[in-house]
Amino acid sequence: MIEFKNATKQYGERLVLDNVNLQIQGGDWVWLMGPSGSGKTTLVLSLIGAVSLTHGNIIVDRYDLTKFNQKALQEYRRRLGIVFQDYKLLPKKTAYENVAFAMEACGYSEDQIKKRVDEVLEKVGLAAARHHFPHMLSGGEKQRVAIARALIHEPRLLIADEPTGNLDPKTAAGIVDLFQKLNIEGVTVIFATHNGNLLRQVNGKVLYVEEGKIRTVSA
Ligand SMILES: Nc1ncnc2c1ncn2[C@@H]1O[C@H](COP(=O)(O)OP(=O)(O)O)[C@@H](O)[C@H]1O
Ligand SMILES: [Mg+2]
Repeated sequence: MIEFKNATKQYGERLVLDNVNLQIQGGDWVWLMGPSGSGKTTLVLSLIGAVSLTHGNIIVDRYDLTKFNQKALQEYRRRLGIVFQDYKLLPKKTAYENVAFAMEACGYSEDQIKKRVDEVLEKVGLAAARHHFPHMLSGGEKQRVAIARALIHEPRLLIADEPTGNLDPKTAAGIVDLFQKLNIEGVTVIFATHNGNLLRQVNGKVLYVEEGKIRTVSA
């Protein structure tokens, strides 16, 4: 489903990804581990096409995304669910509006939007907070809004970069539980974290990023 082939990324002298080869199958749970600065975000951004490789290829469902033009990249990204550490919510929009916003640009009717937004907010356990603004939400709730927004187009692949990085351990565990529920429903999850404690919660494939290389430990 996803294959990195000799993926190399260099920033000036710094070789961040050094001929990385790896495969991720549909339905997998993948922990992307490694200390701060090891290259996890670079790998994630290359997989969403936001960072271009110095050389090498990334094949997703038989298509080479390093060859995509802007339009193809946009379509590809729309099929992914992407979650970041800092939530990236619009501060002047409610939870509902933050999620709806992701559909508005895509030509859906108001009824379709309402039905889908209610569905995903329910799924992440936030139905009751739908009209709250981000400043009224806890960190965990803000991340649930971001996850609801990521689910809007029913992605088969969820990519999360340190999604629990700003959360206390108990709240973080709840967020991992939510991702696990989605994974059990068949969604492929790639979860980047520097926090080894989280790994005990879900038995998956572990990719360690170390000096540009990937070491794989399969569960
Ligand atoms: N845009 C950039 N320009 C130059 N160097 C970068 C850039 N992005 C990341 N780096 C460097 O690449 C290395 C890996 O960073 P990153 O992928 O963010 O690691 P991680 O997510 O594991 O903390 C770091 O040394 C970082 O300083
Ligand atoms: Mg990072």
